[in-house]
Amino acid sequence: MAGKVKIGVFGAYRGMTMINVLLRHPDAELVAICDKYRPALEKAGKAAEEAGLQLALYENFEDFFRHDMDAVVLANYANEHATFAIRLLRSGRHVLSEVLPCETMAQAVELIEAVEESGKVYAYAENYCYMWHTFEMRERYERGEIGEVMYAEGEYIHDCSAIWPGITYGEKDHWRNNMFPTFYCTHSIGPMLSITGRRPVQVVGFVTQRNGTVRPLGLKSGECAGIELVTLDNGAICKSVHGHLKREPGSINYEIYGTKGSMESERFTPSYAPEGREPELQVYREGDKLCVGETERYRPGTPAIAGDMAKKFTTHGGSDFYPTHFFIEKILGNPDGEKYSIDVYSAVDMGICGILAYRSILAGNAPMRVPNLRDKAERDAWRCDNKCTNPAVAQGDDLLPCYPGGSMEYPDSVYDEVRKIWLSGKNAE
Ligand SMILES: NC(=O)c1ccc[n+]([C@@H]2O[C@H](COP(=O)([O-])OP(=O)(O)OC[C@H]3O[C@@H](n4cnc5c(N)ncnc54)[C@H](O)[C@@H]3O)[C@@H](O)[C@H]2O)c1
Repeated sequence: MAGKVKIGVFGAYRGMTMINVLLRHPDAELVAICDKYRPALEKAGKAAEEAGLQLALYENFEDFFRHDMDAVVLANYANEHATFAIRLLRSGRHVLSEVLPCETMAQAVELIEAVEESGKVYAYAENYCYMWHTFEMRERYERGEIGEVMYAEGEYIHDCSAIWPGITYGEKDHWRNNMFPTFYCTHSIGPMLSITGRRPVQVVGFVTQRNGTVRPLGLKSGECAGIELVTLDNGAICKSVHGHLKREPGSINYEIYGTKGSMESERFTPSYAPEGREPELQVYREGDKLCVGETERYRPGTPAIAGDMAKKFTTHGGSDFYPTHFFIEKILGNPDGEKYSIDVYSAVDMGICGILAYRSILAGNAPMRVPNLRDKAERDAWRCDNKCTNPAVAQGDDLLPCYPGGSMEYPDSVYDEVRKIWLSGKNAE
């Protein structure tokens, strides 16, 4: 494609991250933003104005949908990405989707087929795959420095209880209130798959007990953590843990053990620390003798790819620039985009581990096979599987509880109180 890619952004809260990249990207033209929440829309419009751009601002998705644009960034509700992505792909637009890729197995199949039938670019914005440490781990793994993965760990520990009012606004059916404990799994699983390039073949899910000491905030699963034990296609095992455990600052850490060495991020420095103070990476490589090798510890710094631009975006461990950048590069047919942009198959691999882990939990931690949905023959078994915790999508037996044994129920006064805290601009205490 010639010229700049005309891009719209749907969802202006997290979407501000992509808006900020698009406003500065030489190959992109931000043309429209949509958010039904007027203050967020106006804030985004002001940022564009300050960058010298007059944009179309829409509160209504249908009006936004009709705008002339080549591509759309989906930063709307995490459980609604697949349905909007499918519609946009079928209308001839490229799609960059925030996390998560889909809420049901049926959506996973439909999303893949919409990408295949449209021939458009679908990219998954799992930014944690592009943090300084995870990106460096991927490059070193690809060079064969630690051999082949045998075991890996990924953790995304983020106790959101204090900020819950600011991210759920007191909305009873906000996706964050309705999600099941293993839903938000790709920050922890994603980097293990992108570093090693392997595919999940089986998952066993676990959930901790609820933390009853946290004041009621409306989360129907209760405050807990989800755990997935994932078997990869070479027999390696990955442990993924994410959720509301007590640790400040939170932890975003990864370890990869290979046949010839290991790599791990250092746990006591916050991953969000700015360049020069970000966590160190430790890499051990065995030499010719058993148990004798070299150990390095260093701060990887900004990746070399588009480093001058990437340096300007330091949020989320420096990762927030790359999903948008590689999406644009892939649309333009550039090799970096082809290589590093996360395609629909990898996105679905990352996301369905969480969906199937919950099935495993509900079946008493039974192992669940993870289908390879690249293979058309594997799709029919899942095509009509709408099971999830969202009453707008699943009814009857398909509607799962948000926690095994039943969802927590709260009186409306809990949501009213959360809303009040949000409107006051404070955190919950
Ligand atoms: N990758 C990361 O590091 C990261 C960090 C935060 C959030 N996220 C993701 O970003 C997405 C958005 O999360 P968020 O934190 O911004 O909160 P959110 O999901 O509450 O906000 C979504 C925004 O989209 C708007 N929206 C949703 N549906 C709409 C519709 N039909 N019409 C118009 N506007 C609509 C809402 O008004 C809201 O401003 C989620 O998918 C979340 O998983 C990712």
